[in-house]
Amino acid sequence: MNLHGLEKSRLPTHVAIIMDGNGRWARLRGKSRLEGHREGTAAVRATVELSRDLGIRYLSLYAFSSENWNRPHDEVEGLMALLESYLECERERMMREGIRLMAIGDRKRLPVSVRRVLDQNIDLTRHNTAITVILALSYSGRDDIVRTVRDIARKVKEGEYDLPEIDESLVAAHTETGCIPDPDLLIRTSGEMRISNFFLWQIPYTELYITPTLWPDFSKRQYIEALLEFQRRQRRFGKTDEQILRG
Ligand code: FPP
Repeated sequence: MNLHGLEKSRLPTHVAIIMDGNGRWARLRGKSRLEGHREGTAAVRATVELSRDLGIRYLSLYAFSSENWNRPHDEVEGLMALLESYLECERERMMREGIRLMAIGDRKRLPVSVRRVLDQNIDLTRHNTAITVILALSYSGRDDIVRTVRDIARKVKEGEYDLPEIDESLVAAHTETGCIPDPDLLIRTSGEMRISNFFLWQIPYTELYITPTLWPDFSKRQYIEALLEFQRRQRRFGKTDEQILRG
């Protein structure tokens, strides 16, 4: 396998991506925003493919935030149609390449036709083991936390847990990503320096990589650059560098 100069043993287990800049990419070319999103789909394919080939275990893609419902009706409708056709077209590849699909977010808000194909793909791919791709759809990091709090509060009320049992691991297990390790690397394209209500609980020690590249231009080469930069970082998790070097 070509590792492109990357150290296999130091690859991130979980990469999360805020795919931003489709609209600007389109505007720069005099195209519609939807054409930007369409082009963004090709970058999604390439990113999933490289992640899988490198052996990255989890890839989370922020495809549609709760706040994105407030975009113009045509754009939302176009994005949903794009998502549906992406999921239909990719089903065979997911099975061939061992890709397991998961989704997080408020799926109830998605159009029935999108939900149907999403659920089908999730169900069909549930035993695949090469990589897990997590699509964040109608997702909000704060909603995730609110839902988690409600869930735990209800269980305390029903006597399932005592207050002292509530610790970080119990809270983490109740979030939407309960069964998935925290991201090691969070990539954001288009140069914006914010998290935009993506993972909030999940990223206390995640390495951030922000590139000015607009999402449709985010190539495999650029992804490799991000991974190389990740491997140059020293992750200290609050410790000193002497402690880390001593092991
Ligand atoms: C942000 O760019 C991008 C989105 C809101 C949608 C992301 C969707 C895709 C990449 C394609 C479909 C997804 C999948 C999983 C097939 P923006 O529109 O905010 O760009 P701008 O900030 O330049 O306007």
